[in-house]
This record gives sequence, structure tokens and C-alpha cells, in this order.
Amino acid sequence: MTLVSLRDVAVSARRRLVPAHYDFFAGGAGEERTLRDNRAAFDRWRLRPRVLRAAGVPDPRVELFGTELSGPVLIAPTAFHRLAHPDGEVATARAARAAGTVMTVSMAATRPLEQIAATGARLWFQLYPQPDRDFTASLVKRAERACTALVVSVDSPVLGRRARDLRNGFLDLPPGLACENLRDPVTGKVRDIVMDPSLGWDDIDRLRAGTGLPVLLKGVLHPADAREAVARGVDGIIVSNHGGRQLDNAVAAIDALPAVVGAVDGRIPVLLDGGVRRGTDVLTALALGASAVLVGRPVIWGLAHDGEAGVRQVLSLLHEELTGAMALCGAATVADLTRDLLAA
Ligand code: FNR
Repeated sequence: MTLVSLRDVAVSARRRLVPAHYDFFAGGAGEERTLRDNRAAFDRWRLRPRVLRAAGVPDPRVELFGTELSGPVLIAPTAFHRLAHPDGEVATARAARAAGTVMTVSMAATRPLEQIAATGARLWFQLYPQPDRDFTASLVKRAERACTALVVSVDSPVLGRRARDLRNGFLDLPPGLACENLRDPVTGKVRDIVMDPSLGWDDIDRLRAGTGLPVLLKGVLHPADAREAVARGVDGIIVSNHGGRQLDNAVAAIDALPAVVGAVDGRIPVLLDGGVRRGTDVLTALALGASAVLVGRPVIWGLAHDGEAGVRQVLSLLHEELTGAMALCGAATVADLTRDLLAA
């Protein structure tokens, strides 16, 4: 089958995955209102293109934390890639490398960080700070050797209540798969990831003080939190509701973006994830002030469809759609993606 959009890739993935695993990847919290609204909110935007700008072939490259990427679409951290394909995170990393973008490795990856890094991909590491501070520090040390930024997820003081998983009885990885980055090197036992309800700004200060890596906060929706993050010297913000998997009825990511961008006022990069499925979605987010976006589920669908090649296909479809949409808007570079290109 010829896949012409991310929608086609998702259809193929659904056919290939065990239903309970498909549900784990696809599902959200509660009534899945936020999950649906992440998409619906993008659907509401309309573009007001410019013409006759002699813009030439669009160049969608961006620079983030001193490194140049082929475009403004990065890979969001998602758990359990080996449930989607036996190569797991290694396949995802190879695809990221081929596409010239960043893969954010989830703390719940099913391959060890060092193995993923051996692909030569540009990696960021997503961290849920653990109450065991020494263990958290040891993870940060590993990330420093393999990655160029630390993404701290701050939207998960507890795990969201996901009806599909509860109904399917999907509570844990099948035998043979594990969160390899939580394996104790001495005992060989794998720790559980703890969602820490007492995580606070002091923990962010401590993390920052303990590492030279840029620190991004993922899961910020409120402009007051964005202001606090800037005041504390955080290096970047990812506007995200965790793909609708944590707090249901949380505001759609693209709806939360403008207030966060306003609060940050250009001082640090603001990224966004949640519901990005088309080049025009990327364009809309950048026109509203995002520096880049990340995609979660589409990458998993690519993996399930055809491993590394499937993820490459997802990334290149988005790249082609974005450059096409930029051309149709008369935009030569991402700097030309300004608010006036959006109707209303
Ligand atoms: C996630 N997400 C996520 N985030 C995180 O910080 N750590 C994690 O381990 C995971 N795991 C995870 C698993 C699955 C199956 C999904 C779908 C999502 C959230 C992810 O980083 C991102 O915020 C959303 O996936 C973005 O929304 P879209 O692109 O999936 O709509």
C-alpha cells in the first residue's frame, strides 16, 4: 500500500498491533476529551497565505541549543517501542539520524540508552525525577554521556487514569521486555518508575545545578509556570498535555501555546507536542510562536508499520508536507512563519 499521509500509517499500524497494545499507544485519560481536542484544536485553524514573495524553495531548518536540525519536527518521548517493533528504540534512533532530527528517549525505553546512542543519533533524554535522588543522579550521568539535553516531564505527579488499559488489563510489559534504563547494573533487577507527587521547583533547581545539559520542562500549560521556569533559568519549555494521557479536560496543546509564548517572551525556546499530524499543523504551531514541535504516536505507528523505514517515512511525510505548505504560504524559512499567516 502506498502511504500518502500519517493517517495511512496509523491505519497500517492498527492492523499490525495486538489490540491491547494498540489501545495503550492510542489511548488517553478519562473520556479522552483532551486527546480528541489536541487534534480538533488544530482543525479549527485556517491559513491566510502570502503570494508573489519569490520565496524560492523553502528551507525549514531550525537551530536548537546550538545544533542545526533538518526541520522543526522532533521525536517526542514515548514508552515501550519494542511493543511496536522488535528493534524498538534503536530503529527509531536510526530513523531520527537519517532524518537529521532529534529523538527524545523516554525513561521508559525498552532498549538501554547506550545501545540507542550507538546509532549516532542526536538524542535528548526524558526524565521522571525519582524520589531516590542518587538513582536520578546516576541516570543524569548516563544521559550526559549519550544525549545533548534533558527533558524533565512535569505533568505526571501521578499516572493518568486510562480506561482502555484498565479495561484491557494492560498493566505491564509482557515477559522479555523491560524498562532497560531502570535495570540495576549489580542485581540485574529492573526498578519501577515512580511518579513523584512531591516533585517541586527545588528539584528542578537541583537538577539544573547538577548538570551541564540544557534542561527543558515538558508538560507546561499555564503561563505562570512558564514565567517561573524562565525565572529559574530553565533552558526550554515543551507545551504539552502528554498527548491527552494525563489530565483529561486539560486544554489542547495548540490552544495553550499562545499564552505560554507570551509569558516567555522570546527568552527561551518554546516547543509543543500533541496532535501534530500534518505539515500545516507544524506551520500553525510555528506561526503561533513555537520554535519546533514533537510527534509521539505517529512515530509509534511508523515503527509498527515497518520499523526504521516506517519511522523514516513518517518523518519524511511531515517534512514534505511542511515544505509544501511553506511554499504555498510564501515562506522561505521558518522565520517567515508569522502570526499574520493565520486567519483569526
Ligand atoms: C507518551 N508520552 C510520554 N511522555 C513522557 O514524557 N514520557 C513517556 O514515557 C511517555 N510515554 C508515552 C507513551 C505513549 C504510548 C504515548 C502516546 C505518549 C507523551 C509524549 O511524549 C507526547 O507528549 C505525546 O505523545 C504527544 O502527542 P501525540 O503526538 O501523540 O499526539
